[in-house]
Amino acid sequence: MTYFPWSNDYSVGIRIIDNDHKDLFGMVNALHAESKADAPAKNIDNLLAALSRYVEEHFEREEELMAAYNYPGLSAHKLKHKELALDVHALRKAHASQPRRIDRDKLLEYLKNWLSNHIMRSDMDYVPYLRSETGKKATKERRKGADRRKSESSISVEVFDDRESVDVVVNVAKENVSALRRCADLLRGDDELATALKDLVFAQENLTHAEAEQRVEKLLAD
Ligand code: FEO
Repeated sequence: MTYFPWSNDYSVGIRIIDNDHKDLFGMVNALHAESKADAPAKNIDNLLAALSRYVEEHFEREEELMAAYNYPGLSAHKLKHKELALDVHALRKAHASQPRRIDRDKLLEYLKNWLSNHIMRSDMDYVPYLRSETGKKATKERRKGADRRKSESSISVEVFDDRESVDVVVNVAKENVSALRRCADLLRGDDELATALKDLVFAQENLTHAEAEQRVEKLLAD
């Protein structure tokens, strides 16, 4: 039986976001499977690292979407994301340094509640706005602005994954264009170098080991 099954109750009705959420469910289930198989700590470390990176990628995608619609709750939602990303980062860091001090059942329970509560209580809040006339009007304005910026932009980068192909238009100083292209090429590889680059980019603001452990102690308290 699946530990944390996806159901349509969790659907926000936006494909790219639902797909991200389904992937996050999948990652929690993978952690559960490894934990039940009594897998070595290294396996759990790797899964937590992947989860931590993916959480940040997802938050960024969701925030871009909310910003595109001028969603008025964006700042408050971003603050929640920041805290949640720090929680997962702290779990990852604390597990990497002292795996025996982390109760795997509590860790799984925490992640399950965390994801479920955030989707049902916070993500669902932006759905009516994005579907409203105000949201649609904001999108039209954004598209006009994006077309204008595209014609003025210095570089267009395409980012691929196995489901989506997204055009990203960014303005950078000329001396950084080459570095940006190389980073995009590396990320297309999805190999060790791509992972190392993502780790570097998504590295959270310096949580020390002590801070991570303190945070985890509170998160997993009875
Ligand atoms: Fe789907 Fe606000 O995270």
